[in-house]
Amino acid sequence: MSLTEEINKRRTFGIISHPDAGKTTLTEKLLLFGGAIQSAGAVKSNKIKKTATSDFMEIEKQRGISVATSVMAFNYKGTKINILDTPGHKDFAEDTYRTLTAVDSVILVIDCANGVEAQTKKLMEVCRMRNTPVIVFINKMDREGQDPFDLLDEIEDILKIKVRPLSWPIGIGATFKGVYNMFEKHLNLFDASKTKLARDIVSISDLNDSALDTQIGETPANKLREDIELIEGVYEEFNEQQYLDGTLAPVFFGSALNNFGVQELLDAFIKIAPFPRSRTTDVREIAPTEDNFSGFVFKIHANLDPNHRDRIAFLRICSGKFERNKFYQHIRNNKKLKFSNPTSFMAQDKSVIDEAFPGDVIGLYDSGNFKIGDTLTEGEIMNFQGIPSFSPEIFKELINKDPMKSKQLEKGINQLTDEGVAQLFTQQPGNRKIIGTVGELQFEVIQYRLKHEYGASADFMAKNFYKACWMTSDDDSKIEDFVKRKAQYIAEDKDGNLVFLAQTQFLLQSAQADYPEITFHTTSEFK
Ligand code: G4P
Repeated sequence: MSLTEEINKRRTFGIISHPDAGKTTLTEKLLLFGGAIQSAGAVKSNKIKKTATSDFMEIEKQRGISVATSVMAFNYKGTKINILDTPGHKDFAEDTYRTLTAVDSVILVIDCANGVEAQTKKLMEVCRMRNTPVIVFINKMDREGQDPFDLLDEIEDILKIKVRPLSWPIGIGATFKGVYNMFEKHLNLFDASKTKLARDIVSISDLNDSALDTQIGETPANKLREDIELIEGVYEEFNEQQYLDGTLAPVFFGSALNNFGVQELLDAFIKIAPFPRSRTTDVREIAPTEDNFSGFVFKIHANLDPNHRDRIAFLRICSGKFERNKFYQHIRNNKKLKFSNPTSFMAQDKSVIDEAFPGDVIGLYDSGNFKIGDTLTEGEIMNFQGIPSFSPEIFKELINKDPMKSKQLEKGINQLTDEGVAQLFTQQPGNRKIIGTVGELQFEVIQYRLKHEYGASADFMAKNFYKACWMTSDDDSKIEDFVKRKAQYIAEDKDGNLVFLAQTQFLLQSAQADYPEITFHTTSEFK
């Protein structure tokens, strides 16, 4: 198969949602269709106490929070689908944002009763930053929920994206009878007990056909006719280009738990979702069809197996063909590396692969070479963009509780922050280590992992900072002057960049007013 054919058959996407909307359930159903798993319940749930195929960490099981981003691949109707799973919990939002840099599109799951929720909004903002194409799946239609038209309005208003329903529900909750597929013009009748793949599909080419009344009853049939007429009148025809540009979201309705409306979603997805696209580096655009391999690391996970202290870097392939045992250039370290055991993730299994193509995510065993955002190429010097660090929101100073274990603590905190669990800033005098995170939970994760994986005991002392801001200026002397004046609020990030740790929003604004020549950035990537 040619490189272009390999690329065209791949769809790499993420499923995102506010916790509890049904992301895990939907993922599982998609895997069932792909034959990647045989029975429901085989995929992890991010709930406490459940065993899981893609749970990597003990703490994840304990807390019932999906900390790890997992990768699941399967084949469906000749398409190779790569799902990148993302933690739903808000404290791990940064992990999710970074994973979204490695996908080509997303499916956004919304609970029909709760509509757009806090995390839905934040995740959509990240998608908008990169114009990621979005398909919306409105879930739990077997339960009472909001009116579908109201839901569509809410999505447009709050998420600031145009919508176009491609399927339409008949009733909701107790009166839910099925979904009319506007894409294929057929009716899928709902049966609450149905959890298998068999479906009752009735082809309805003409909604005025009296067969519709026989199938679902006269009143619901008339309501459906009215609704569809209204939709055709209010919403423009579905425009695939607008979807690919990230300005229009097609919407599907269903019930993931009952495996209902999921196949419509999947079938439409493989038709319209983008295959791997060009990506930006600091030098030029890289097309996936280029012969030379390139890719970047968007996730690092340590100690997948507590018995072996291994670390795995998740690499998204952006161009060319990746080959096992071939030397590639690690740009940041200016080092040549080859990989003898690159791994692919097929649902429950990990297996060593000989080659991989754009859109694929592979796991590279790592002994500490990688950091999030690292680029690998066949030699060309370039760095993939769009994997920024965001300013943390909670800051704490790391306190060593066991002076005999300082080395272990140092190593542990360095590795954990390379993995992106948190950000590390160093403050002088005294090399004080300030840890910045977006959520309280990370501190517990860090403490737990330092203890269990590195044998180090740490505590944290809360710091009253509001934001960490990276600084740029055309006039370096202004930054020097600022740094002198504000020495006690200046720290260095892991790459040696200076940051201003502003205590309050007011102090940040006054710094900006006093030093108009300096720009204060709340993400680490600025061009
Ligand atoms: P998440 O990954 O987005 O956090 O959500 P998850 O799939 O874990 O689903 C959250 C809860 O919603 C689960 O119930 C799940 O069974 C339920 N759910 C998912 N899809 C549907 C649906 O289409 N209809 C209905 N009625 N419920 C749905 P739970 O009670 O929290 O857990 P469980 O013990 O039932 O798994």
